[in-house]
Amino acid sequence: MIKLTIDGKKVTADAEATILEVAREEGIEIPTLCYHEALTPIGACRLCVVEVTEGGRTRTMAACVAPVLEGMEVVTNSEKIQNIRRTIVQLLLARCPELEVIRKLADKLGVKDTPFKPESEDCFLCGICVRACDEIVGVNAIGFTNRGVRNEVLPPFAEASNVCIGCGTCTTVCPARTFDLERVTKSESMHTFAKEYRRDYCSICGTHYMIPESYLSE
Ligand code: FES
Repeated sequence: MIKLTIDGKKVTADAEATILEVAREEGIEIPTLCYHEALTPIGACRLCVVEVTEGGRTRTMAACVAPVLEGMEVVTNSEKIQNIRRTIVQLLLARCPELEVIRKLADKLGVKDTPFKPESEDCFLCGICVRACDEIVGVNAIGFTNRGVRNEVLPPFAEASNVCIGCGTCTTVCPARTFDLERVTKSESMHTFAKEYRRDYCSICGTHYMIPESYLSE
């Protein structure tokens, strides 16, 4: 166990924990977007940024990927941190102005507008769907393609994946609700990423994998 300070509060933490995990255990709220507790954190959105002072040096770090260290002092909500988070949300608001999850975040952080050039994307590239497909389902049917502004989540070569089992996990974990669940039916195929996939059924109980009944249309 190691000792550190978060927002002036002395805490004891497991040496394997991240700043985000310890802060949450202590009831300290840090906003996140690309973090999912069931998945490996990747530090993509930077919304969870905090100030960390260690050995007399202060840096900003993404709390979801930063491990706790002995004697570390963490500040989660300084003016500087709030400004960084507001700028991140302005960028997200420009990229995905229609997304409810981004609008709610903007409201919460007091961001009313964005100075950045508006786009109309429906995915902010948090990668939760990609990690869930890899780490939970274990098939790697989707991934990031292209680079920079053309980066997007698709099956390889943007073609119907031959390893996708049609479980719908990507659709249920997506915080943006980017994928259209209305097109999921009880038929043999489902529609995701504008492609048809064969749905797989359990050979023992006969039900399809994972998608809850409440998501299915008749
Ligand atoms: S939640 Fe930590 S970087 Fe996205």
